[in-house]
Amino acid sequence: MAKLKTTYFCQNCGNQAAKWLGRCPSCGEWNTFVEEVIQKEEPDRGSWRTTVTAKTAAKPKAIHAIQYEEQERVQTTDGELNRVLGGGIVPGSLVLIGGEPGIGKSTLLLQIALSLQGQRVLYVSGEESEQQIKMRAERLPVPTSDCYIMAETSTQNIFRTVEHFEPEVLIIDSIQTMHSSLVESGAGSVSQVRECTAELMKYAKESGVPVFMIGHITKEGSLAGPKVLEHMVDTVLTFEGDRHTTYRILRTTKNRFGSTSELGIYEMLGTGLRQVTKPSEILISQREEALSGIAIGSMMEGNRPLLIEIQSLVSVANYGTPQRSSTGYDAKRVQMLLAVLEKRGGFRLGQQDVFLNVAGGLKVEDPAIDLAVCSAIVSSYEDIAISPSIAFAAEVGLGGEVRAVSRVDARIAEAEKLGFKEIYISKYNTKGLDIGSYRIKVRPVSKLDEVFQGVLL
Ligand code: TYD
Ligand code: MG
Repeated sequence: MAKLKTTYFCQNCGNQAAKWLGRCPSCGEWNTFVEEVIQKEEPDRGSWRTTVTAKTAAKPKAIHAIQYEEQERVQTTDGELNRVLGGGIVPGSLVLIGGEPGIGKSTLLLQIALSLQGQRVLYVSGEESEQQIKMRAERLPVPTSDCYIMAETSTQNIFRTVEHFEPEVLIIDSIQTMHSSLVESGAGSVSQVRECTAELMKYAKESGVPVFMIGHITKEGSLAGPKVLEHMVDTVLTFEGDRHTTYRILRTTKNRFGSTSELGIYEMLGTGLRQVTKPSEILISQREEALSGIAIGSMMEGNRPLLIEIQSLVSVANYGTPQRSSTGYDAKRVQMLLAVLEKRGGFRLGQQDVFLNVAGGLKVEDPAIDLAVCSAIVSSYEDIAISPSIAFAAEVGLGGEVRAVSRVDARIAEAEKLGFKEIYISKYNTKGLDIGSYRIKVRPVSKLDEVFQGVLL
């Protein structure tokens, strides 16, 4: 038997050390090192040549000689998930879904398991009993299907089961509760999580069965256990949302089979998660009358344009230094836009408190909402409402110029679809665009003044 060997792992970031350390040199956390047994003894490597044997030598292939067939992806009934995965489930892929406790990861995966009609799905839970899962399934309005439930935590037992059960999709409810007998340390520790993931990866690749794993997220927002987990799997999805609101966002953070900028929106109801197919409708509040300080901007999430409401409140600073607060948009960028408005537009915002909020709890990185941000601020400052049928899609430069943005055609089309009457874009964005072909009035502008003259009547 190999000599028992132990190593110390940082439970926060997975950093490895030969001896116990008080503070992790990698992530800076205190008191996170735990001793874990690793069975395998490190071989004495010597030169890399000594490891070469005839048996292991694989021939490199010229890239044009490699045969490749487009694998058929499994389409689920959940359009949001299909898009986030890059167009359906890829056979043999390992997908990790991370999220805070109670956000709805188990609900999402159970719902998917139940909706995969005609596919044998095995749902392995290490957290809940079979009865508990049944109770949850009863709440979901999905017809019963070929879905099997197993409460199990040992990976060896799981593999023994799948050998004769042969599922077409495997779901593991939570990787932190699984343990492999090849590693001695307890479930949820870094080396266990790593070993179980490696075993599941091997299973997925060899059998071609797609595997979904649930992973918990620590309060700092990283996947509990090591960061290495993210490197090992094919796709990482994060399920996020405010526990006080009912909306949940499924975001791609890594995807070997598609784009990482996709996003799916769900609403948590008493009967499970509902897909929100027209997100702009929930992001723009329904209001009867026009209010000052509100402007609608256009942002892109992946290939999807979203229209979002920007709210701003500008009021005289009564307590010394004026406050600047921005929720959902980069605070530095807002500072810059305020400076532009002050210098180029002549608005005296220096003595004003400015609060900015992106409605719906979204975080926006797309600079195309600049024009909406400026319009919302000026609207609040002047206390003049902007008509709710106007949308904005442009970036603002330091000279007060209105700049072009990407995919302006998609943004205009989305605004038109949602019934907006006018959209302000940059003059430099009109090349190759047939403005007359839209029902919505497209207004190309080059300077901020032109916008304010148009919308603040
Ligand atoms: P759950 O999927 O257990 O979260 P996770 O696996 O991420 O820890 O779901 C948690 C919450 O969702 C729970 O507090 C109850 C709520 N919920 C609903 O609102 N409606 C439903 O139909 C279900 C099944 C759960
Ligand atoms: Mg759960």
